[in-house]
Amino acid sequence: MKVFLLLVSVLARVHVTTGESAAHRCFCQVTGTLDDCACDVETIDKFNNKDIFPKLQKLLSSDYFRFYKVNLNNPCPFWSDHSQCGLTYCAVKSCTPGEVPEGIKSSSNKYSEEPSQDVEGCDMTEKLGAVNGTLNDETRQALSEWKKHDDESDRFCMLDDEDSPQSQYVDLMLNPERFTGYKGPEAWRIWNSIYEENCFKPYSVKRPLNPLVSNSGDIDGQGFHRWLEGLCVEKRAFFRLISGLHASINVHLSARFLLEENWFEMQWGHNVSEFQARFDEELTKGEGPKRLRNLYFLYLIELRALAKVLPYFERSAFHLYTGQSEQDAENKNMLLELLQVAKTFPLHFDETTLFAGNMKEALKLKEDFKRTFKNISRIMDCVECFKCRLWGKLQTQGLGTALKILFSERQIEAMPNTRKSTPSFQLSRQEIVSLFNAFGRISTSIRELENFRSLLSDLKQ
Ligand SMILES: *[C@@H]1O[C@H](CO)[C@@H](O)[C@H](O)[C@H]1NC(C)=O
Ligand SMILES: *[C@@H]1O[C@H](CO)[C@@H](O)[C@H](O)[C@H]1NC(C)=O
Ligand SMILES: *[C@@H]1O[C@H](CO)[C@@H](O)[C@H](O)[C@H]1NC(C)=O
Repeated sequence: MKVFLLLVSVLARVHVTTGESAAHRCFCQVTGTLDDCACDVETIDKFNNKDIFPKLQKLLSSDYFRFYKVNLNNPCPFWSDHSQCGLTYCAVKSCTPGEVPEGIKSSSNKYSEEPSQDVEGCDMTEKLGAVNGTLNDETRQALSEWKKHDDESDRFCMLDDEDSPQSQYVDLMLNPERFTGYKGPEAWRIWNSIYEENCFKPYSVKRPLNPLVSNSGDIDGQGFHRWLEGLCVEKRAFFRLISGLHASINVHLSARFLLEENWFEMQWGHNVSEFQARFDEELTKGEGPKRLRNLYFLYLIELRALAKVLPYFERSAFHLYTGQSEQDAENKNMLLELLQVAKTFPLHFDETTLFAGNMKEALKLKEDFKRTFKNISRIMDCVECFKCRLWGKLQTQGLGTALKILFSERQIEAMPNTRKSTPSFQLSRQEIVSLFNAFGRISTSIRELENFRSLLSDLKQ
C-alpha cells in the first residue's frame, strides 16, 4: 500500500501546487477537501490540444493501430436476465415488473414513458450499436502475418479474449465511439456494478441507480462522493481512474451525438444539453466537475505511463510490424516522437521512489489491481451494445496496460537495448494498440472539452 500511496501523494502534491491558477476556470472551481483541484487545466489543455492530440491522431490512423482483436461474443458471467432487459429503454417494455430494479420504478416515471418507442426505435438502437467487422481479404491475411511477430508475456487483463477462437479483428476507424442510444437501466447497471463491487468500496452505500436523477432514493448527489472519503488514498485513486473513464465515454457520446437522421445521412455533432446533464455543476449537484477532474487525473496517469515506457519502444529490436518496412519505420519514429513529447510535460510527478520500496506490498497491489481489471473487463461482456462493449474493453485494457507500465518501472529501466536478450518487461500487440487508442480517447475528450466550453460560452451571450 505504502508504495502506491507515494504515487498518489506525489500526484496530489502536483495538483495542489498548480491548482490555484486554474481555480477560476469552470472545471476546477469546486471547493472541498476530498479531491484538491486535480489539475492545472490550462496547462494540460494547451499541452494536449497543441502537442499531443494532432500527433496521436495521425499515429492512430495507421494500420498498426487501427486493428484491434477482441472477443465480443463472451456471455455475461454475472447476470442472466440481460437478454430480456436488453437494449436500452426499448427493453423496459418487455420486462415484467419484477425484473425492473427497485430504484427505477420509484425514481421517476420518465423511463417508463419511453417504451412508447416502437420496434423501430429498437432497430435503430441495434443499428447504432452494431460493430462493423468488415475487413478485406488482404487485411485479413496481413493480420495473420503480424501475429507471428507479436510478443507474449505478463498481460494485465483479458487473456481469454486474445486467445479465444471467437476473437475477431475490428477496424477501429470503421467503428468510432459515439452516441449509440445505449442508456437507461441497462447501462446504469453496468456502471453501478463496476463502482459498487469493483472499486474497493469500504462499505455499502446505495448509489442512485440513475446518475442523472441525483436525488433519487435517500442519497443526494454528494453522498456518493462522500463514501470516497472513507477510502484510503490509493484505492480512491483507483476509483478516480474508473470515474475518469466513465466521464470520457460520456464526453464522447455528447460530442458525437446523433443530431438528425434523414433519408440521406446521419448527422453527428455536439449536444450541449446532453453534456450539461452529465457535467453541469448545478444539474449534477456538484458531481459533474468532479467527474471532469477525474478525467484529467486519468489523463495524467496515462500520460505518465507513456513517458515511462519510452525505453521499451526505443529498442532497436522493437518494430511496429505490419510488413511494410518503410511505413513501419516511419510509424515507429512518429511513436517515439510522441513519447518524447509526453516526457517533456512539465507537470510530471517525480516518482523516483515509486514502487521501489516494499516489493511485497507492491506485488500484492499489482495483483489486486490486475484481478479487478480482469473483472471489469468481464463486466463489459454484459454490455448489450456491441460497439460500447468494444470501446469499453479497449479502454479497460488500455488503462490496465498503463498501470502495468507504472508497476514495472524497474524492469523497464533495466531494459537491455540488444537484440539477443529478451526483456523481462514486454507488451503484446494488443496491449500496445489498446494503450494508445485508450489514451487517444482521453486526449480526444480533453480536446472536446474545449469545444464544449466555447459552445457553452456562445450560449451565454
Ligand atoms: C462496413 O464498412 C464498409 C467499409 O466502409 C462499408 O462498405 C459497409 O457498408 C459497412 N457495413 C455496414 C453494415 O455498415
Ligand atoms: C466481479 O464483478 C462482479 C459483478 O459486479 C461482482 O459480483 C464480483 O464480486 C467481482 N469479483 C471480484 C473478484 O471483484
Ligand atoms: C440533445 O440531448 C437531449 C438529451 O439530453 C435530447 O433531449 C435532445 O433531443 C438532443 N438534441 C438533439 C438536437 O438531438
